[in-house]
Amino acid sequence: MKPTSPLTVSNLSCEYQTNPLGLDEPAPRLGWTISSDRRATAQGTCRVRVATTPEILTTGGADVWDSGVVATPSACLTYAGRPLNSRERCWWTVDLRDNYDRSAAAPTPAWFEMGLLDPSDWRAGWMGWPAAVSGAGLLFQGGFDISKPVRQARVYVAGLGYYELRLNGRKVDDTVLEPAPTDCTRRIPYATLDVTHLIRPGANRIGAWVGNGWYGMPLLLVQVEILHPDGTTTRVHSGAPEFARWRVARSPITRNAIYDGETYDARLERPDWDLPSGSLESTPDRLDGWSWAMSASPPGGRLVARQPEPIRVVDTLRPTHVAEVRPGIFVFDLGRNIAGWARLRVRGPRGTTLLLRFAESLYPDGTVNPENLRAARSEDVYILKGGDVEEWEPRFTYHGFRYVQVEGWPGTPLPDDLDGRVVRSDVAERGAFDCDQGLILAIHTAVRRTEAGNLHGIPTDCPQRDERLGWLNDVTARAEEAIHNFDLTRFFGKWLDDIADAQDPATGALPDTIPFRFGFRPCDPVCIGLLLLPWLLQRHTGDDRLARRLLPNLCKWVDCLAAHTDAEGVLTYSFWGDWAPPTLLGAQVQMGNDPRNASAPGELVSTAFLYYHAALLARIAGQLHEPATQAPYAALAARTADLFHRRFWNEAVGGYGTGSQSCNALALYLGLVPAGLIPRVVDNLVREVDRYEGHLTTGNICTKYLLEALTDAGRMEVAWRIATQEDYPGWGYMLAHDATTIWERWELATGGAMNSHNHPMLGSIGAWFYRAVAGLRVETWGPEGLRFSVRPPPVLPGLTRASARLTTPCGPMGAAWKRTGGCLTVEVTVPVGGEASLHLPPGPVRLDDRPLKSATEGVRIVRVDERSTVVTFGSGDYQFTQEETA
Ligand code: BGC
Repeated sequence: MKPTSPLTVSNLSCEYQTNPLGLDEPAPRLGWTISSDRRATAQGTCRVRVATTPEILTTGGADVWDSGVVATPSACLTYAGRPLNSRERCWWTVDLRDNYDRSAAAPTPAWFEMGLLDPSDWRAGWMGWPAAVSGAGLLFQGGFDISKPVRQARVYVAGLGYYELRLNGRKVDDTVLEPAPTDCTRRIPYATLDVTHLIRPGANRIGAWVGNGWYGMPLLLVQVEILHPDGTTTRVHSGAPEFARWRVARSPITRNAIYDGETYDARLERPDWDLPSGSLESTPDRLDGWSWAMSASPPGGRLVARQPEPIRVVDTLRPTHVAEVRPGIFVFDLGRNIAGWARLRVRGPRGTTLLLRFAESLYPDGTVNPENLRAARSEDVYILKGGDVEEWEPRFTYHGFRYVQVEGWPGTPLPDDLDGRVVRSDVAERGAFDCDQGLILAIHTAVRRTEAGNLHGIPTDCPQRDERLGWLNDVTARAEEAIHNFDLTRFFGKWLDDIADAQDPATGALPDTIPFRFGFRPCDPVCIGLLLLPWLLQRHTGDDRLARRLLPNLCKWVDCLAAHTDAEGVLTYSFWGDWAPPTLLGAQVQMGNDPRNASAPGELVSTAFLYYHAALLARIAGQLHEPATQAPYAALAARTADLFHRRFWNEAVGGYGTGSQSCNALALYLGLVPAGLIPRVVDNLVREVDRYEGHLTTGNICTKYLLEALTDAGRMEVAWRIATQEDYPGWGYMLAHDATTIWERWELATGGAMNSHNHPMLGSIGAWFYRAVAGLRVETWGPEGLRFSVRPPPVLPGLTRASARLTTPCGPMGAAWKRTGGCLTVEVTVPVGGEASLHLPPGPVRLDDRPLKSATEGVRIVRVDERSTVVTFGSGDYQFTQEETA
């Protein structure tokens, strides 16, 4: 969209949110985006003012913080005023000048409101009920009276394992499966909710459904604070001495578990239980099932403001059809694999019991095949109360499924009687990718769905079976793909805190799964997420605070790995390595059905990852200007690189270790191959691909590196051949076998083993679509701003155009190229403050249909020679063309 005025400021954000409520970041990051009608615009100076009211800002004042005029190209400043107080709302605005000396100001002020910053702000105590051991979900009910007008009302609430909060009969917000999982002995997220509009004069009733969730037991903590115009505050909270006003009862949810599902007996509903009728002072009517709520021991962790986007229902699907596969057994097909649940509409006699069973695949007779769910029962039960049409969906479970088998339906259901509810962390979609090669586009869609289905407060490995865990090794593979497809700044920020919580303070060891539920400690050395995520986030947002804050944790983890080396420096332990390669390609790749990769020896992979850790840590420390940290890790990296080559170079195969795709791709990707040997290793890698007729033999880690290493070595046509295979092993094979999300294994398997059909790790190819096929690569984002490159790929069979777009905190960046009639056209969008470099083959280039040489406004020709043409340019929209020689 073309800007309407020459220079505008918009999208004011605080900690990546618009007008956030309940922050606990003492120095929030305030950001904005700038649009300009002139190319090569950059911010020159900016000034942020923060005030207690918007009026103060309008009159030019700032009674909280005035940054003064700051010379910076970054469209953000970190708050550096006086300490912020709990509950304080601050209004803020920004005005700036650009490099053309034009000025602009935010049209309207934005605000942020602090949460409860100090433990002493919490008056509330935890409540529970011993009878909860029955497995039922609980209802809590509390009340208060309001006799004065209300200016503002807030609820601060934490519930474990999952809760749904209601006020005067209405659900307070649209979140589900709240809160995101954490280690509750370390951190418990609380939400701050604006309930001003829900408070009534007179009697008010708070209600909460509370389920088992990941914590395994229902507990609730609520603090309501109501501010009156006369400056007084009414406070109501759980915990002594107010327990007399909180009651608890079993809910109609008689069973709830994440893996096993939920049973809801609508006959047990308590009409109006969350409406302000009846007195809560009187002794509960035990016959009616209500008791006084009881004080519960705190779970131990600090209460912290909810960081990432909450989980919501983000989409609703109508089944493509429903079939009666056996008398009275109906199977709904949603047409694709999702994470979420089913919502049904049904009418029938009281007591009718519906059994819903969820699965990713079907048996030949059309019934659901639950074998790959392993111990997860994934069954919901709904018992009708009778009467009108009843609509129901569960609250405290979710499933990974495409098919829903329903038994007990009164009559014959229609597809319209059931919805597929798609449920995930409600993060924004960040990237868009498009191209005209159908299979690649279909893989991209499946990868994106797979990633989406595994964002549930943590990056889960799968949504269906008895795991749904934050496996660190999988994140090594998928991190870059995930960050391209979704805006995970807040999501991964939270998960990095989970990782830090899980780290052994004495040894620095991390466990395999975060929060730790099972696996080894220390985790497999391929687990580099603690370093890779802050590094990638910094590159994609320009924000280095995570890396800075976690630097001691990063060092400890790398030290822990280094402490496990032998006398020579080889990292000898390995659990998973390049996990789950194709099993059907012979013993040289895999040992029978064992998902470990026989072609990628554990010591080789682990030692390469020790190098990767040390080298990346040195780069991070360098970027943070921490030379004392950088130097020892740079030295460790250099020693390990040298050792890797000496120890694993195999002259007989002209490559590393077994000479497999995994070994050589890993060494090339990490830059472990001495320059003189690179051509030989690349040739061998290509030969290995040819040996398998253009197919990969890699597992979850090295698949990404295979594509990237071939591309970087100028052999993208080989990577393309691998990516576009339609038969085994490859993504095309999955899609040819009805996959709508990416599988865990290269094989089609539905039995009771590791056979998830919705597993992001092999979707690591997703980043390559942006970086190589569309040719859009984020390079760096330092103090000078975002720097990215655009490198259209060489001519590839079946591909004549591709495009990609990424939103960034400073605006959208994008590249689109097409080849028509011997002409390559490349369109590039650079956000204000950014700079792109376009890399083209040698030959004359035109910009906006004029010779490149005549270009002005920040367009710089960096290189024109027989190898390439490279040009850099600042913000704006550009169209380049180049005649291509056949
Ligand atoms: C998980 C994986 C993980 C593996 C071992 C599995 O059960 O689902 O994704 O990589 O265990 O590391």
